[in-house]
Amino acid sequence: LGRVNTPPQAEVAVIGGSGFYTFLEDPVEVEVDTPYGPPSAPIAIGTVEGRGVAFLPRHGPHHQFPAHRVPYRANLWALRSLGVRQVLAPCAVGGLTPELGPGTFVVPDQLVDRTSTRIQTYYDQGAVHVSFADPYCPRLRTHLVDGLTDHAPVDGGVMVVIEGPRFSTRAESQWYAAQGGSIINMTGHPEAVLARELALCYATVALVTDHDAGVDAASSVSMDEVFAVFASHTDTLKGALRSVVAGVGERSCECGSAVDGMTLPFELP
Ligand code: ADE
Repeated sequence: LGRVNTPPQAEVAVIGGSGFYTFLEDPVEVEVDTPYGPPSAPIAIGTVEGRGVAFLPRHGPHHQFPAHRVPYRANLWALRSLGVRQVLAPCAVGGLTPELGPGTFVVPDQLVDRTSTRIQTYYDQGAVHVSFADPYCPRLRTHLVDGLTDHAPVDGGVMVVIEGPRFSTRAESQWYAAQGGSIINMTGHPEAVLARELALCYATVALVTDHDAGVDAASSVSMDEVFAVFASHTDTLKGALRSVVAGVGERSCECGSAVDGMTLPFELP
């Protein structure tokens, strides 16, 4: 990809796997630095159906950042500094219930944070407490569900986000399911809350790649399975996201006012 010094603007971004590099037409790469260091990779900016769109591979171009080491703060800061206000975040998840098997698309409406080592705020000074009762942008969620309609997406669900990098034990997995969890992954948090803290719209679309260990007493999750199932559905997901990205309109939700009236220790980028 070519590199540019004056980046084109993009209002919408996708944070996803490196399979999404081919998502954009005529992409250029933009090197961005942030107060939190560099993002996972230079940000690619191109077009989708004529609209400026940014893409950032969450785990880096060579999948060098495991979920607990992804520079989440730098990633969202860098995107916002390029003009991004709406973020779509595809991810791989395990299904915690028998109905949610490999190949199912879920647009969760809730998450449960079970991470333990990650910095999950920009606000280390002052009193900035964002609302997170509904962690995802309701408007972007609707766009995702509608955009996936040919693939029978599950509208709503609780995503449990574990620290990793290991998968769960059977007992942990059964416990998460008993507590109301529907799907499980390692990257959904703190990405979601950091987006909220920067007053961005953010929603995720999860592709179930496996039944988590508690669902099926006979098997356990393997990384090969997760990667293979995700790869076999990447084209479907890319096609659906293309129409979503092209179709999302102006912000009419409340996400842009998430920190209104609070005294921030810095200006938003
Ligand atoms: N990502 C994909 N499948 C997963 C699982 N079963 N547990 C945690 N993260 C996952």
